[in-house]
Amino acid sequence: MASQIAKTILEEMTIQEKIGQLIQLSGDFFQNGTAAITGPLKEHHLSLETIYTAGSVLGISGAERVRQVQTDFLKHSRLKIPLLFMADVVHGYQTIFPIPLALGATFDPQTMHDMAAVAAKESAAGGVHVTFAPMVDLVRDPRWGRVMESTGEDPYLNSVMAKAAVNGFQGKLPLDANHIAACVKHFAAYGAPEAGREYNTVDISEWRFREQYLPAYAAAIEAESLLVMTSFNTLFGIPATANQKLMRDILRQELDFKGVLISDWDAIGETIAHGVAGNLEAAADLSLEAGVDIDMMSFAYAKYLEKAANLDEHTKLLIDEAVVRILDLKVALGLFEDPYRGLSVEREATTILSSDNLHVAEQAAEKSMVLLKNESVLPLATDAKVALVGPGAHTGDLLGSWSWQGDPQKTSSIYDEFKSRFKSVEYAKGCGFHALNYQELDQAVMIGRDSDVIVAVVGLPSSETGEATSLTQLTLPTEQLTLLKQLAALNKPLITVVLTGRPLDLTAVAAVSSAIVLAWYPGSRGAAALTNILTGEVNPSGKLPMSFPRHVGQVPIYYNHYNTGRPISQTADDDENKYLSKYVDAKNEPLYPFGYGLSYADLAVEQLKVLNPIVNDSQNLQVGVTITNHSTISATTVIQVYSHQLVGQTVRPVKELKYFERLSLAPLETRDILVTLPLMTFRSMQSNLQWQVEDGDYTVMVGLDSDNVLQQPFEIRANNKRGQE
Ligand code: BGC
Repeated sequence: MASQIAKTILEEMTIQEKIGQLIQLSGDFFQNGTAAITGPLKEHHLSLETIYTAGSVLGISGAERVRQVQTDFLKHSRLKIPLLFMADVVHGYQTIFPIPLALGATFDPQTMHDMAAVAAKESAAGGVHVTFAPMVDLVRDPRWGRVMESTGEDPYLNSVMAKAAVNGFQGKLPLDANHIAACVKHFAAYGAPEAGREYNTVDISEWRFREQYLPAYAAAIEAESLLVMTSFNTLFGIPATANQKLMRDILRQELDFKGVLISDWDAIGETIAHGVAGNLEAAADLSLEAGVDIDMMSFAYAKYLEKAANLDEHTKLLIDEAVVRILDLKVALGLFEDPYRGLSVEREATTILSSDNLHVAEQAAEKSMVLLKNESVLPLATDAKVALVGPGAHTGDLLGSWSWQGDPQKTSSIYDEFKSRFKSVEYAKGCGFHALNYQELDQAVMIGRDSDVIVAVVGLPSSETGEATSLTQLTLPTEQLTLLKQLAALNKPLITVVLTGRPLDLTAVAAVSSAIVLAWYPGSRGAAALTNILTGEVNPSGKLPMSFPRHVGQVPIYYNHYNTGRPISQTADDDENKYLSKYVDAKNEPLYPFGYGLSYADLAVEQLKVLNPIVNDSQNLQVGVTITNHSTISATTVIQVYSHQLVGQTVRPVKELKYFERLSLAPLETRDILVTLPLMTFRSMQSNLQWQVEDGDYTVMVGLDSDNVLQQPFEIRANNKRGQE
């Protein structure tokens, strides 16, 4: 519903002013607080007048700068329409949290919410109105660098996290000055590029799209994300940005999205390279027709919409609809009342990097780290003589991609934290991320020889994660493997800490390490959080949100796959039968499965009981689970409930996550938990593309990872209930 303000302004606007609202410019068009067209910007042939009609800008922040730009802009804007400031505030603004994939590993929506709330508060104080987050693309191929921006391979986990992020960024609507608008991205299915190659074709069936890829976007929209961003990829044969079925039928009509749809960077222009538009003019037409409100940096709308609008009424109508949505977003942000949203240098200084914010980030990092292996060498005694080595050991490069406001120079390194916690720490780099020199290697071996325990921090630099960082190899670089092998030969406990934004093939690392801690890119307080974990001050509780392959050849690899007609049985028969769905040179299973992560405590799910083995129309499935902590230390873990439908109208995944809960157990505590799953939890996508809960036999499974589960049968007798609430 258009607001009165939007309607009134619309009536006053010229066609140029209307089109202006649909244009988003990069921060380069505003230099020293005023509009400027310098250097390569000249090639776009925009006039200063056009710039002063623009609706939004991306990438400008900082209280003083935003205030300057807005003041100058309003001076030049005939109708005094404030400029919208958008930016990628993905996992923190200046207080950087672990990367989103690591936040997925917390299996804790509250942590995701807290991250988004802190990021919103800081970035709002820095003048940002809209963040291009959350990214909720389902990801199953770690060759793709952007898996780090997602919460992983599971539709349910992603949906829960998507909702938590939107609520954290936006708070309870209407927006207040400490919150910003969310923009869920990238609509849709950007996470499934063929061969994991960035910007590559996506081609999945609509059935699979709707069942597995769409739910997380739908959850974000249901949580009232005020914006959606289109994706670069094709879907159903048409680039998303020009895809009417996707944007008009699915997004606007079915999901009832009423907010602003923005293109990804130059995605309108890229419809030409995709080969569905012959030129920029056609690209503008196609995208407007698909319902894209804002053109981010392709200049197609700026150059061609006026001509189109002069030709036909339909285009004028589409432009008006888009303008109203954008003006309404400005109304929602309160920009017509205060175009600065209470910006001040003082507020910025007290809000950003506060000790409270840093504390929340540290706790998030602690919850996100995953203990992958532990041959009883962790936790470490603080009086142990530690040799700290590796290219990640003494660097502030712990923030990960999409942390442009974070400062690695001011981020304490693992070495900095170790020095304050361990009695004796020697440091030697050993090798670079991709470089080896024998002097450095010898030095590392020397301090290793003289230590009680070696901690090696290895992985990839953050520049090898995020957008445009697809890889064909998922092993640790050979230089680092050489270092680890040399250290392992010393026969000391070797604890390997891995910095990564994607699942890696850790087969060779596991072979030489006594323990492995997956630290991801843990953010501003990551080094402190890691030290807390290694010393046992905090018991690890993170769980993998993506399967870790044993070889790159297995990808895409994910736990919720189908059975196939010739499944392996995990018995000796598998070796004898050649004609099964398997590799002849490797196992099918990943090295570490989805949901996996160890604790220093000995935890076990000991009983699973289905309280109502026949579920009828009006009932929920109720399962009773007993979990025990057999150790004398307290622990936190994530209980995971999966299900499988034995016979369906379409093939069903071998397991699907239906519920999870983080819970803390006191030493030696046994806890009974009752899990209630509404009937709708078991709905599946039918071949007619409708959700439905099917009658029949099911299995419910409970465990502390997706692989080791207890299971029980149950039956649904609900008369084939349609699944749409
Ligand atoms: C990315 C988006 C991002 C945009 C603006 C694009 O290259 O795909 O995720 O929001 O740039 O920075």
